[in-house]
Amino acid sequence: MTAAILTRITALALLLLAWGGTHAFQEDDFLDGQLTLVVEDALDGGPEPVFSPRSTVQVRSVKSGSAVISHTRPWTSELNAKLKSLVDNDDLYRIRVYQKGSEDRRYVSTFTRACQMYESGLTETLSLVVDSGGTSVVGVGIFPPVAVCGGEAPATLPAHHNTTVIIRSPIPAPVPDTATYIEKLEAMKNEKAEGKDNRSFLAKYWIYIVPVVLIMVLFGGGQEGGGR
Ligand SMILES: *[C@@H]1O[C@H](CO)[C@@H](O)[C@H](O)[C@H]1NC(C)=O
Repeated sequence: MTAAILTRITALALLLLAWGGTHAFQEDDFLDGQLTLVVEDALDGGPEPVFSPRSTVQVRSVKSGSAVISHTRPWTSELNAKLKSLVDNDDLYRIRVYQKGSEDRRYVSTFTRACQMYESGLTETLSLVVDSGGTSVVGVGIFPPVAVCGGEAPATLPAHHNTTVIIRSPIPAPVPDTATYIEKLEAMKNEKAEGKDNRSFLAKYWIYIVPVVLIMVLFGGGQEGGGR
């Protein structure tokens, strides 16, 4: 009997945990790992550069701008020599980015002077513009900290790219269309004042109803079988 109750309590606790988990999950602005981007660069230069993959960026959340970058290609002295020859030719360091797993690879790309990349010792800020739904990449920018080349080589060979990733979504700038904006604000204010919530009763309160029903089911069953 005690064991049966304990089992029920454990089951209930697990259910509540699962419920809490789903609830928290829903409140995050969107799912983990929905968007993975592949960064390629071209180190051969010339009029038709050949790109090869160098890093992947996993966008965790557009709203909070969190992303994880991993460098899939180790930086070697050969690659460094290629970059150096781009520098010697005053060429560009080009990158392009596409969405991993997408059917048509629509690249977004950018470049910087190779000497900036070289003299920054592969330190860079990568700015990725992702549509606000977090489903595709719409732009990229690369910013090495060395903005003006001084002709100095870094003291040591960098081990890998040292990248700070910034995730942005193209939020409309707060300019000209103030009339619509104010209208929207007013509408929102009114809605708030009226406490309007158009969702159905169940949609609003299911998170409270489900646990209660579960408790009733679990403990209701306990009383029936309690005499044995
Ligand atoms: C990596 O970048 C950060 C800033 O983005 C910088 O402070 C740090 O020195 C860099 N590390 C190396 C090894 O270049």
